[in-house]
Amino acid sequence: MRIAIVGSGYVGLVTGVCFSELGHDVVLVDNDAAKLAALQRGEVPIHEKFLPELLARHRGARLQFSGDLAAAARDCKAVFIAVGTPPTEQGEADLSYVESVAREVSGSISGYKLVVEKSTVPVYTSGWIRRIMLRNGAKADSFDVASNPEFLREGTAVTDFLYPDRIVAGSDTERSSAVLREIYEPLTSGSYYAQANAVPRPEGSSASLPQLVLTSAKSAELIKHASNAFLAMKISFANAVASICESVGADAKQVCQGVGMDARIGSRFLNPGIGYGGSCFPKDLLAFRSVARECGLDFRLLDEVIRINEEQRQRFLRKVRSALWTLRGKRLAVLGLAFKGGTDDIRESPAILLIQALLQEGSRVIAHDPAAMARAKEVLPAAVEYASDPYEAAKDADALLILTEWEEYAQLDLPRLARALKYPIVIDGRNLYEGETMTQHGFTYYSVGRPTAAPEEHVGSVARTSVERIGDSRNGDTRNSDARTEALPTEGERSA
Ligand code: UGA
Repeated sequence: MRIAIVGSGYVGLVTGVCFSELGHDVVLVDNDAAKLAALQRGEVPIHEKFLPELLARHRGARLQFSGDLAAAARDCKAVFIAVGTPPTEQGEADLSYVESVAREVSGSISGYKLVVEKSTVPVYTSGWIRRIMLRNGAKADSFDVASNPEFLREGTAVTDFLYPDRIVAGSDTERSSAVLREIYEPLTSGSYYAQANAVPRPEGSSASLPQLVLTSAKSAELIKHASNAFLAMKISFANAVASICESVGADAKQVCQGVGMDARIGSRFLNPGIGYGGSCFPKDLLAFRSVARECGLDFRLLDEVIRINEEQRQRFLRKVRSALWTLRGKRLAVLGLAFKGGTDDIRESPAILLIQALLQEGSRVIAHDPAAMARAKEVLPAAVEYASDPYEAAKDADALLILTEWEEYAQLDLPRLARALKYPIVIDGRNLYEGETMTQHGFTYYSVGRPTAAPEEHVGSVARTSVERIGDSRNGDTRNSDARTEALPTEGERSA
């Protein structure tokens, strides 16, 4: 099928490349000529596994690039809208880019066309796209609007696309369902997986064929927002449980594992840490809350999810203070800048927010990230130094902080790390290590929701510290227990 994808950002690019991989002829449309030229040269603007290989495989053949939306829409049977929907000051999704695409496409309709929302949009958007197209002269029976939300995680987006848990096809007419069915047939029939050069199935993914879940367009729009809100809620729930674990001396990893083994709950997205970040969860929670408000529902559960997420970063900052006493003048090695492992994306990254807070308190920061250093340099103050590997960052540092769950940070050469650090103190915001392993190598090890682990001679003092300073929630509400935590901006402030 000939498919146009409008917007060559993260979602549009991955979708376009993967549709080509499924055998479709794709035109990727963008109004940024420099970006298109770079893609045409084979340059991949984002750090995403398998994307360079697939771009090289299809570029110039089944994957074309164009700045001419009207022409691309004219030539294609399906037009996927994958433009940005950034939050407004009130937290609602700004749909002006979606609207301008709908206006432009309405002038290019010759024969039947399916317009598909791929961007994350609030419920009712498909209805608005239809209305805008009718207002701009498109004939009612010449097109349909469907919603086909994406569930791609950065870092594993290509395999998430090709090996999905489900494909949600929200359409209100049989003819539009038929188009979506045809587009995804190589996945739902399994014919793609039988190809010799198919992208390999990721470990741990289900071997059963993905199902196309046919819903109304409105339901599909809600499935996307509700899914992201639920996943963020799971993370905040795990973080809140981890705080209780810290107070009572239980192990949050054990607790979350035990809870997650109940098939009704599931173990994924129950890992406590320094809070969720990224371009999706923070933005989508605010947008979903706005949708609920417009429907007359005060969805306070979402407020609480957001509050716990902010509190989690502040708790971590308190943990750093409790480990080091004062922060002014301390040299801190920071591993991780991206909002999670496997990506160079630093949008709403808790690591970046924490570094800003540490700098405000007068610490020196020497940072490392396998992929995100170039992007971080654009937003962090010049005072931050960058190291070419974790050991260089650790050299003579007062402590090492782990802020992103990169796989390589879970496999550090611990004796080498201990030699590099001035004091063998590791404060791990992602729970990548076991306390026992760390103490065997001489480290005092702080993590999230687990007892602080220290070599024999330090046990008494560290245990006392962890109860008095970290687990201070036993003494009542600790949200503002330390005025310095206000150095961290809130999610609302940042999005504004
Ligand atoms: C998220 C969703 O997982 C995708 O399904 C969705 O398609 C995407 O948003 C989107 O709406 O486009 P993404 O933002 O790439 O994907 O990242 P996640 O893997 O969901 O991680 C989000 C944040 O939660 C990261 O900061 C991560 O470190 C954190 N996290 C995740 C935890 O703190 N604990 C966990 O157990 C899992």
